[in-house]
Amino acid sequence: MSDAIERPPGFTYRSDLKRQSRLCCEQLPVERLAERFGTPLYVYSARAIRERVRAFDHAFKDIEHTICYSVKANSNLAVLRLLGELGCGFDVVSGGELARVLAVRRAEKVVFSGVGKAAQEMEAAVRAKILLFNVESASELRVLEACAARLKSTASVALRVNPDVPADTHPYISTGLEKHKFGVPVCEARELYARAARSPHLRVAGISVHIGSQITNPTPFSAASQRVAEIVGELRRDGHTILYVDVGGGLGIPYQQQREEFSHLVRAYAEAVIAPLQGLGVKLLVEPGRSIVGPAGALLTRVLYRKANGGKKFIVVDAAMNDLIRPALYQAEHEIVPVEMARRAPEIVDIVGPVCESGDFFARARSLPAVAEGELLAILDAGAYGMALASNYNSRARPAEVMVEGKTAKLIRRRETIAELIRLERAN
Ligand code: LLP
Repeated sequence: MSDAIERPPGFTYRSDLKRQSRLCCEQLPVERLAERFGTPLYVYSARAIRERVRAFDHAFKDIEHTICYSVKANSNLAVLRLLGELGCGFDVVSGGELARVLAVRRAEKVVFSGVGKAAQEMEAAVRAKILLFNVESASELRVLEACAARLKSTASVALRVNPDVPADTHPYISTGLEKHKFGVPVCEARELYARAARSPHLRVAGISVHIGSQITNPTPFSAASQRVAEIVGELRRDGHTILYVDVGGGLGIPYQQQREEFSHLVRAYAEAVIAPLQGLGVKLLVEPGRSIVGPAGALLTRVLYRKANGGKKFIVVDAAMNDLIRPALYQAEHEIVPVEMARRAPEIVDIVGPVCESGDFFARARSLPAVAEGELLAILDAGAYGMALASNYNSRARPAEVMVEGKTAKLIRRRETIAELIRLERAN
């Protein structure tokens, strides 16, 4: 089993002096983190994040590019700060995400995406002088122009076009088809570019696409890139300056045991994206989220109870769907491993949380080495869309988050308290 998750330098089993094999994050046994900070607990490896950014940069080395990390995947300030130090820009989709970035970095490499940007959010972004607005409709373009005019400023815009490219992923996170709410149809884009170019408060600067998330096959990325390259040609013939091509995010990760080297995956992705754009002299913006932080994080949880109903075995753990909603929302199958690797027979179990819904499960009919009450489990590849999607459902305080670097662990968000949950409310 150790082979299955030996993905240095994030989470690996290491043997201690008593020859017991325990899961470590970098150099630290995660058991110690659970004792120190409690469970459920999100644990991230700084080194894993760093290595993934490097692999990305290397894969795109043949074209001028900026990695605009998609903040929605994991917006903890310490994560953003680390990425900023590594030279990344940021893709934000709300005033809240912009504020997080501004708490640790300047806005010069920020792109603002999203189908429903409110006027005050765009004003904040114009004030901060972000790099690019990825505009998604004629109405939004009008509101952005008005914001920039009010502030006597100029906003750089790209239109997010909808390339009508199918992506083989979960329907909730596929975005590049005409039937989706995202982007503007290619046939309307030229007219909107012309409109933007007439405004003294807007500067046409690029074009953007994003076809979906958790896509592991390079073909749809290549198709989208080809479509974009054609449009760049048309827009330039119309006299527009198209300097930036923002290809969005979406590179998937293997959540199950057969894991491929990330550098191979990202290289295949980069080749698919870059080939059609070669020679256009554009600056590439990439907005990865999951592929940077996903495998760098795990959710630690403790087994509360074992029980059997009608011959079915349940492992009840102290984390729940409010802490990690991906299995419930996208039928995601995260690998789950015992923190202490001892030889024991596997059994078929459902791993469930304490929330009062049958949808509150992390795995169903999963083969897991028999674990005892009180033991720790690690839910892997939980660094992206884990804590970011956590809620207070069932009035559960959200988990703490820890960043590990070598042998040191830093608490980067302390556990919420119940007092904090009710503080904003009034009984009368
Ligand atoms: N850029 C745009 C415009 C996006 O909408 C997204 C993700 C990204 C970049 C980053 O995509 P990534 O590289 O992380 O795939 N909660 C879902 C994923 C939702 C993705 C939404 N948009 C999940 O847990 O699978």
